[in-house]
This record gives sequence, C-alpha cells and structure tokens, in this order.
Amino acid sequence: MSAPVFDRTASPLIFDLGQEGRANRYVEGGKPLDRFVPKSLLRDDLPLPDNSELDVVRHYTRLSQRTFGIDLGFYPLGSCTMKYNPRINDAMAGKPEFADLHPFVPDALAQGALQVMYELERSLSSLFGMAAFSLNPAAGAHAELGALLIAKRYFRDRGEVQRDKVIVPDTAHGTNPASAAMCGFKVISLPSDERGRVSVEELNKVLGPDTAVCMMTNPNTLGLFEDRVADITKAVHAAGGLMYYDGANANALMGNARPGDMGFDLMHLNTHKTFTIPHGGGGAGHGPLGVAEHLVEYLPTPMVVAVKKDDDEAGPSPSDRLSFRLDFDRPKSIGPMRSFWSNFAHAVRALAYIYANGGDGLKRVSQLAVLNANYLRVKIAEFLETPYPEICRHEFVVSAQKLKKETGVRALDLAKALLDRGFMAPTMYFPLIVPECLMIEPTETESKETLDSFVEALRDIVATASENPDELFAAPVTTVVGRVDETRAARQPDLRWRPA
Ligand SMILES: Cc1ncc(COP(=O)(O)O)c(C=O)c1O
Repeated sequence: MSAPVFDRTASPLIFDLGQEGRANRYVEGGKPLDRFVPKSLLRDDLPLPDNSELDVVRHYTRLSQRTFGIDLGFYPLGSCTMKYNPRINDAMAGKPEFADLHPFVPDALAQGALQVMYELERSLSSLFGMAAFSLNPAAGAHAELGALLIAKRYFRDRGEVQRDKVIVPDTAHGTNPASAAMCGFKVISLPSDERGRVSVEELNKVLGPDTAVCMMTNPNTLGLFEDRVADITKAVHAAGGLMYYDGANANALMGNARPGDMGFDLMHLNTHKTFTIPHGGGGAGHGPLGVAEHLVEYLPTPMVVAVKKDDDEAGPSPSDRLSFRLDFDRPKSIGPMRSFWSNFAHAVRALAYIYANGGDGLKRVSQLAVLNANYLRVKIAEFLETPYPEICRHEFVVSAQKLKKETGVRALDLAKALLDRGFMAPTMYFPLIVPECLMIEPTETESKETLDSFVEALRDIVATASENPDELFAAPVTTVVGRVDETRAARQPDLRWRPA
C-alpha cells in the first residue's frame, strides 16, 4: 500500500480548525449576509467556526476521501441499484433556467420546466405501460404510501370499505409492509415457494372479499423474475383486489417488459436508482407513482397538463404546439404528497438520462445489467453457495451459511473484508429468507475487468476464511473507520456536533 499524502485518519472538526478573523477573506465587507437578511434575524452569538476558504475546501475534500462512493469504485449494493451518474444529468439540472426557477412562478413563465415534467411523465407512462404517473412523491416508500392511499380512496368510492388487507410476499422490501401498516391496512405476509417465487397456491388461500392490494416486486428481491405474474394478477383481480408493482428493481426490466402489460394497477419507480440519480447516504430521492386508467383521477395534485395552442400561436416543432400548466382541479385526488410539485432537479436528471439513451438504449441498459449479474453469479458460484442457481435478472443472492459452519466466518465478515480490498460491500442479510445472505447487484456500466477483480477479491476472502479467519474478523483495517459496533451505532447514533 502506498504512503498516504496526508493523514486520512485525522479528522479535525471544521469547528476546531479556525482562528478568529480568518473567515470571509474573499467576501467584500466581511458581512455579506446583511445585504440579504434583515438585521433583526441575524445573530452575533452563533458559535460558527472562523475559517479561511482554503481550510474549508481542504476540510470537505478530505471528508469526501474518507468515504466510499460510486465515483471511487465498484458499489454492488443489491436492491439499491447504485448506477453511474452521468455528469450531463447534473449539468442539465444545474442550468440556471431550471435551478433558479421559483416554484411559485406563474405557469406562463415556467413553460420549459413544466414541459420537462410533462415529458418525463409521458416517457415513464410509455416505458412502463401505465396510463399516467405523478412525479410528486419524494422516494419509493413515499410513493408506496401514495398508492395505498389511492387504493383506500378507490375502495371507499366503490363502497368496499371492508377491503382492509394488503398481501406482501416474504421477499418484499421492508417499506412494503410498513407503508401498508402506516396506511391503516392489515398486512398478510405471503411465504415464497421453494423456487423463491410467490406461491399462487398460498396466495389463493389468503385472497378474499377483504383483499385490498397485493404488493409485488418483479423481479423480486432474490433477483428472480416472477414467472407466474399473469396467474397472480388474474387471481387478485378476480378477488376484487388491486395489484401494486414495486418498481425498485426496474433496472432489470426497463424497455423489455411493462408492468402495465402484466396487469398491475399501481406502481412506483425509484428514479434515484433506475434513472441514475445520486442517492447515497439517504440523499434526496424521487419516486414517481404510476397508475392504470381507472385510478388516474386519484393521483396526487398537481398534475402537469398539456394544452394545444391556437394555430396562430403554435411554432414549428411538436412541443411548440403545446402549452403546459399545473392542474390542481382534481376533486378525487388524494391531494399533494409533498411541498411544491416534485423533486424537480431529479425530474430533469431522469429525463436527461432517458433522452441520452433513447428507447433502444434503455432496453440495452437492462440487458447489460442482467448480463453482468449473471456473469458474476456464475463465477461466484465456484466458491460460494448460490441458493437459487438459475438465470437471475439484475441481482442475485449468495449465502455464507456453509462457510460459517465450516469456519465461523459470516456474511458480515465477507462484506467487511471487501471494504479492505477497495470494494463497497453488497447488501447483507436481505432478503430475510436467505440465511447469511449477500445480495449482489453490479449494474450495467461496470467493465469485465472490474467484475473480474471483484470475483477474485471475494475468492481470496473465502480462501482466507479457512486459512486465517481472524484476519476477516478484524476487517476492515484499511478504511478510515474500522469495524464499528453496529448495534450501538443504530441505537445510540451521535449525529450532532455540540459546542463544548
Ligand atoms: C424493493 C424496494 N422497494 C422499495 C424501496 C424503497 O425505496 P426508497 O428507498 O426510495 O424509499 C427499496 C429501497 O431500497 C427497495 O429496494
């Protein structure tokens, strides 16, 4: 390992770096806030650090090097789809015409921004076979909640208030049952069959006049395509329920198959996954919520609508023939789900990605994501258990259970040892039905060389498990922070700096 150019492990707080009088060297007058903020709102006694610009730049650059990100290395975090974020998306979202636009600007002065929202909404509807999408929800889980509120309203309008059960397969992401419970539904957990799929036989046992919604992720969180999806949607519809598609795994499907064609009534997308929006560290998300025709009137407000211009106002291109406005007059809508209209910068990024790839390009994205996942799956099966040894979609699971029995080394230890070898750890211990699980998702943009070096790192770790397990129990040792007490970190997080 080469010697570091500075001590990466030292992490002085920005508050401890400064010296009185260093701040604002490059700001005329030293108190620029006076110009923008009324004096009555400014405080003299704020314990803010007094740092030079250079100190601040170095501090944050150093911090950025203490963590791991997609721009630094391979990030195979299953179910989270950590894709490369093309810089052109950020360039588009940062354009002053978008970034400086106030959300309350009149529609007439925001035509470009409204057109972005309209075209994204139309593109998603056509890609996923739904009648319409709301761009309102701020994340996948938020859209799940919106969808279930729509289902509730729909059944109330039909006089079917007894429908109070939401069926959730046991492979589902935790947000599915959480959203259902939050919305006041009772959650029925559905066991998977030995093939890791929803069991239609088990489903039939729980369907009835109290069924409201069945939530399904396809491909599921084992990375397997639910090949009986047509039977499942048929059975749920026959019982009078609605089908919800959790689109977190849409990177495996986009351009190749459409949930609308599979019979889903409601769905969400995580544009912060499939459509290359940065989302590490719980960052801002974007969860468009799609519905079939019979549920469009319930979508959150506002929706962007296009109005045909009069002939004398229309320009030559198709988009010049339309004007756009925000429509709030939707009496059956569940109402707004967040402040303002959407996480707008993400809408710009997603549309930039869609237009940069085009329809065929998006189809190829999914195909390459599936190819990369299967390449890894077959290679890793040479030295780790793969509980579902069949063609997967964009991700797959391996299990360290046998390894644990033989050597005491757990999935957690494998994950930590990968950090020492320069790779982000895969998702661990999810889905819950696979013991000692690692869930690996390479995405489409990784090269064969990167995939090969990941396989070799994991192979080396598994070999080390037999030869020197203590090395793995101690990992990671090359990262800025070593192995943490994860229970304490979750139960007693220390997230705030307080002045001494
Ligand atoms: C399958 C699945 N469903 C739902 C979600 C929730 O999405 P979000 O994190 O955007 O709320 C996730 C997130 O990882 C997921 O993997």
